[in-house]
This record gives sequence, structure tokens and C-alpha cells, in this order.
Amino acid sequence: MAQLWGGRFTKETDQLVYNFNASISFDQKFYKQDIEGSIAHVRMLGKQGILTQEEMQTIVSCLQEILADVESGKLAITSEYEDIHSFVEANLIDRLGDTGKKLHTGRSRNDQVALDMRLYTRQQVLETDELLEQLLQVLLRIMKENTQTIMPGFTHLQKAQPITLAHHMGAYFEMFKRDRSRMHDIYERMNYCPLGSGALAGTTYPLDREYTAELLGFYGPTLNSMDGVSDRDYLIEYLSAMATIMMHLSRFSEEIIIWNSNEYKFVEIDDAYSTGSSIMPQKKNPDIAELVRGKTGRVYGALMSLLTTMKGIPLAYNKDMQEDKELSFDAIDTTKGCIALFTGMLDTMKFNKDVMRKSAAHGFTNATDAADYLVNHGVPFRDAHGIIGRIVLYCLDKQMPIDDMSLEELKQFSPVFEEDVYDAISMETCVNKRLTIGAPGEEAMKKVIAIEEAYLEKK
Ligand code: ARG
Repeated sequence: MAQLWGGRFTKETDQLVYNFNASISFDQKFYKQDIEGSIAHVRMLGKQGILTQEEMQTIVSCLQEILADVESGKLAITSEYEDIHSFVEANLIDRLGDTGKKLHTGRSRNDQVALDMRLYTRQQVLETDELLEQLLQVLLRIMKENTQTIMPGFTHLQKAQPITLAHHMGAYFEMFKRDRSRMHDIYERMNYCPLGSGALAGTTYPLDREYTAELLGFYGPTLNSMDGVSDRDYLIEYLSAMATIMMHLSRFSEEIIIWNSNEYKFVEIDDAYSTGSSIMPQKKNPDIAELVRGKTGRVYGALMSLLTTMKGIPLAYNKDMQEDKELSFDAIDTTKGCIALFTGMLDTMKFNKDVMRKSAAHGFTNATDAADYLVNHGVPFRDAHGIIGRIVLYCLDKQMPIDDMSLEELKQFSPVFEEDVYDAISMETCVNKRLTIGAPGEEAMKKVIAIEEAYLEKK
């Protein structure tokens, strides 16, 4: 047991207590952030004359060595230390003796852990954003290639009106684009440095908090030391944004599972992204999509868990907050993994365009347009709706689409029908007449694609 705080105690900590309390098994994940934070702190101490230049240089170089040794595997992080902060400080003291003992001047583990978690999260927010960008690139490619690929659009999972694959993908493009803008917002709000908050009440040393903030790439220091050590809002925001990403991925996965089923056959998932059955030789299962859908629950759980942990914690730091880590790390790894795998699956997926088109043509998806045809020829909408309803019933009985009815048959339902009805209710017309911005018509879709392209181009 290597602890930093034995002085006030007359007994050793019970081993079970030590294990229960220790966090090294998981907070070793941010060894790099811990060392970088310490380097910035020591540089500031040197600048302020709290440490001599020589002491500052010695400690900085030694911290850099420790970082290099951890990265090369020469120095192992072991459970002998209580947490990553103790590990780094103990190793520094081992190597430097008394000079090493000066590292922790004007600092507390509370502001240290607040800093480390923030630095770690900030990096993860950027990486999540990059993964989302790659997903958007794939979506945009599919959109560009499919402005004429007609498929049924659904409501209540019932065929509703014809759309295009570009339009369907475009809906997800919007969702993941909003997810990216959430990453941006979180970054902007969280990018303030808590280091220098001390245990809770700042410190009597003349620290230059602006300077450490600048060294670590923050916009500035946080403005209240009690909030500085006990704020986990940024993590809750990030978990909430990740829960939303997972919700989007889960909806998309669900659609792919349906589309990949034998009944639909709209898509075929690439062999590299599907799995077989140990007993049924014919099977090719959409396991990746199912797992993404399933893992959504884990990320929701992490959000609920942290909200619940933070609820009712009095100011300022309390050990409850150590619980923020495992669940966040798990949610971050899960979400990032899911975005990456999903992107690969989508990029390699085959779309059966003929099947999609046939499905749209055989589901009365042009019924609204047929009613509109009558309206354009003077029939009141409610009457037109009734006429087409009766036509649909007739077609259901005959098992054919409206388009296959002869003009004579159509005229039995309304004398208004003329030869031009066939063109008016063709799948192409139904889609391409929908030209308001955001609609599936090819011209409207191309305008949106140009906007999305410009959005992805600017960094
Ligand atoms: N391992 C602790 C955490 O994750 C670090 C802070 C320890 N501070 C304390 N006063 N025990 O929150």
C-alpha cells in the first residue's frame, strides 16, 4: 500500500478498505493527462518563483521521463498505488528525493482529478466528433449516389409515400450533424481549467491560474474553486450527448435489421460485418446492428448512474465522485466503438435498389398523389380521399397497384380520370414533384446535398 497521507494515522488501513477506496485500476487510464497537468503546474510554480528554476526543470524532466517509461512499458502502473496521482508522485519522489516532494505544492488531489477528468473528456469529445464526421462522409456518399433510388417511406412501419434512399439517409445525416454540434457546445462550455482550486478553497500560494490554463489549452481558469473541484456537468452533458448518439444509431440499426430480413431484402450486410449460426447453415445474421442496438442501454445506464451519483452531493468534493470514472470510460469506449463499427457496416452495405423500388410501387405509396390528381381536376379533397380509398380496396382485391388499372376501370370510380393520370401517379412524379426544401424531390435533394457538402468541407 503506497499512500500519500499516513501522517495523521496510527493504524494501517485495512486491506479491504484500501481496495475499496483505491481507484488505480481504472484511473490509470489518464496517466498522460495526470503527468501533463503536473508539468503545467510545476512550470507555473517555477514562473511564480514558488520553485526555483532548477527545481522546476528537474521535476519537469523527470515527469517527462516517467511518461516515456510508462508509454514504453518500462514502468508498470500497479495496484500498489492508491490512484494515478499517487503513482506519479511516488515515482517522482523515488527518482528525485526531496525535490520530488515539492511537486504537490499548492495543489490538491481534488483539483488534480478534476483537471485529469476534464482533460481526458475534452480529448474524447474531439475524437467522438471525428468519428461522427467519418460517419457523415459515408452518409453523404450514399446520398449523392441515390437521389433517384426510389423506396417506400414509412409511418407506423406501413408504406406511406415514395421517397428516395438519399432522402432516408439524409434524415440520419441531420441527426448525426446535430450530435456533432452537441460535441462542439460541450467543448466550448467545458474548456476552462479547474487546476488551482486546491482542495476546495484555492490556496495561499500566489498561483497564476491563467498561465496553467493557457499551458493546457484551456480558454481560462474556472471562476469558483468549490465548483471547480466538484463540477461534473460537462461529463453529464457528454454522457447525455452519447446517449443521444446511441439512440440515433439504435434506430438506424433497427431499420437495417428490418431491411436485411428475408421479408424485406432492401439491403445486404457485407459478409465481413455479419455472422453465421452454429446450427442453421443458411443464416447470415445482422449481429453488429443488434449489438449496437443492445449497447444503447449501457450508455443510457451510465447517464442515469452519474446523474444519480451527483444528486444530493453537498459541496465541495466528496468521494462519491470517484464513481464518475468507470461508467464514463465504459460509455465512451462503447459509443466510440459503436460509431466506428456502424460506419464500416454502412460503408460496405449493398442496397437492393430494384427491391426497394418494387416495394414502393406495390404499396399504394402513390395514393395521396392520386387523390391530389383529382383535387387538381376540381374534386374536393375529402371526396377525392374517399374515391381513392375505394380504388385501393378494389386493387387490394385484385392484388395490383393503382397504376395497373385501365383508364376504363378508373373512370368507374370517377369520370375525371384521363390518360395523364398515369404520369401523375408514377413513382418518379410522386418523388420529384416534392420540391420544397427538405423534401425528397431530386432537385430539392441536390440543394441539400450541396449544403451538407459545404458543411463537411469547412473544418
Ligand atoms: N481517486 C479520487 C477520485 O477519483 C481522487 C481524488 C481524491 N481526493 C480525496 N480527497 N480522496 O475522485
